[in-house]
Amino acid sequence: MDGSAPGCRVLGLCGSLRRASINRALLHAAAIVMPDPTRFTVHEDLGSLPLFNADLVVAPDSPVAELWRSVTTADAIVIASPEYAHGITGVLKNALDWLVGLPEFYGKQVAVLNASARASHADAALREVLSTMGARLVEEASITLPLTGVPADSAAILADPHRRAALNSAMAALARGAGT
Ligand SMILES: Cc1cc2nc3c(=O)[nH]c(=O)nc-3n(C[C@H](O)[C@H](O)[C@H](O)COP(=O)(O)O)c2cc1C
Repeated sequence: MDGSAPGCRVLGLCGSLRRASINRALLHAAAIVMPDPTRFTVHEDLGSLPLFNADLVVAPDSPVAELWRSVTTADAIVIASPEYAHGITGVLKNALDWLVGLPEFYGKQVAVLNASARASHADAALREVLSTMGARLVEEASITLPLTGVPADSAAILADPHRRAALNSAMAALARGAGT
């Protein structure tokens, strides 16, 4: 029993654009262990977003419209991002800036996955940004899963039974919340 509602949708946002990103692999691993029937899709296009410009909000470029559509139709969001120079990556902050004015983001359930125990500054900063934006941070689903040295591959991440169980339990908590 996972408690998620039929048709429940979760959107993954990755703060790294690297092809071999451990954070993107973590999101794909989270998608695999997400209990059925929740659908988990990873947004693969944050690198196409223009730099945020409030002048463009009225008639945004299509990557922005696509992000808004994905966020609007999602019941919950999972964010995984590296820390750069003790801060949130520009990629992620830019995407979040495009979401600040989106009414549907307000009250959205959000889980934050942290792939590095060292990356505490960005994790704290991200939580502050999300709280300022009115997101509902789901603590039970927001975990640090140290992945230093693990290949950036969902199968490698899930090969460790403790990691798999922790991620599964976090995603089950998110699905339960999103289904209510
Ligand atoms: C420009 C840059 C700055 C970084 N700054 C930090 C940092 O402040 N703290 C930290 O723990 N790791 C830092 N790192 C290491 C990254 O967080 C680490 O390489 C991470 O795995 C990258 O995530 P990704 O594999 O998803 O791209 C930095 C890496 C880069 C490229």
